[in-house]
Amino acid sequence: MTHAPFPTARPRRNRLDDPTRRLVAQNRLSVDDLIWPIFVVEGEGQRQAVASMPGVFRVSLDGLSDHVGPAAALGIPAVALFPATPAEKKDAEGTEAKNPENLMCRAARQLARDFPELALVGDVALDPYTDHGHDGVIRTGYVHNDESLEVLVAQAVVQAEAGIGIIAPSDMMDGRVGAIRAALDRRGLIHTRIMAYSAKYASAFYGPFRDAVGSGGALKGDKRTYQMDPANSDEALREVAADLAEGADMVMVKPGMPYLDILQRVKEHFSVPTFAYQVSGEYAMIAAAAQNGWIDRERAMMESLMSFRRAGADGVLTYFAVDAARRLRAG
Ligand code: PBG
Repeated sequence: MTHAPFPTARPRRNRLDDPTRRLVAQNRLSVDDLIWPIFVVEGEGQRQAVASMPGVFRVSLDGLSDHVGPAAALGIPAVALFPATPAEKKDAEGTEAKNPENLMCRAARQLARDFPELALVGDVALDPYTDHGHDGVIRTGYVHNDESLEVLVAQAVVQAEAGIGIIAPSDMMDGRVGAIRAALDRRGLIHTRIMAYSAKYASAFYGPFRDAVGSGGALKGDKRTYQMDPANSDEALREVAADLAEGADMVMVKPGMPYLDILQRVKEHFSVPTFAYQVSGEYAMIAAAAQNGWIDRERAMMESLMSFRRAGADGVLTYFAVDAARRLRAG
């Protein structure tokens, strides 16, 4: 009896068992790759669940160090701070962003004191502070680029002076990285790093975040005159090139999973430290489906995080950071 020829090459051989799979695995996810975004709120004894992000909380400063402790103990290298600003502190100009005693700066000073081993990432954009919810100031119906820069620069400086080691401009104004770099350098803050939200798209996936910081209800219109059009890819390379020329130390692509193609292009083109932000809506989709029993939370989490590594990310901002770190430490 004659057989059809058996396959000589059998890719399945390398999938046979766990040791072989581990040997041939091309990409790894490590705790060192994780940045944990956290939400802080005014008041005392606050630990408020964010409805649209199951498992995510806003905490007041008295509980902040307990909140962050496990992340630091797990060896997560950085947390990214986001303030929920009370309505009475918001105005059209985002004035509170420049206040060295604002919630963000107080949180930063506390964390810098309690966790000197932890890097702090400070979001620079005015949306938590403006009553219209935009990332800059508005002049005749338009988010004015250069006048916004003045406020953003002042915001970055108070954050850096409060102990934020990594300034992360997320506003998408033209020239912000250069303006911030120059202002930091003038003050001798030459070691403050800049992680630029370089390719940040005008995305529906930020919805739950705007809930979490309370800027969603306030937002008038959309952010399409400054955040990027999801139709565009080459433009991401121009944005990254500009930010690097202006002094960015690290760049970011945001959102994450719907923009893995952008991430891969950026990493291949520039070979610089490149980060992905798995944003609130991406987290919400996985968390909500898992709550319904439709998806395995842990496996979907780990698979999604690996996808960023495979696409070329050096690190990922993710609301799953603590859960993923626990899982990674458990082996
Ligand atoms: C501030 C900012 C936003 C996010 C990070 N920084 C919201 C926005 O641009 O509207 C979104 C993060 C997330 O959705 O998890 N500009």
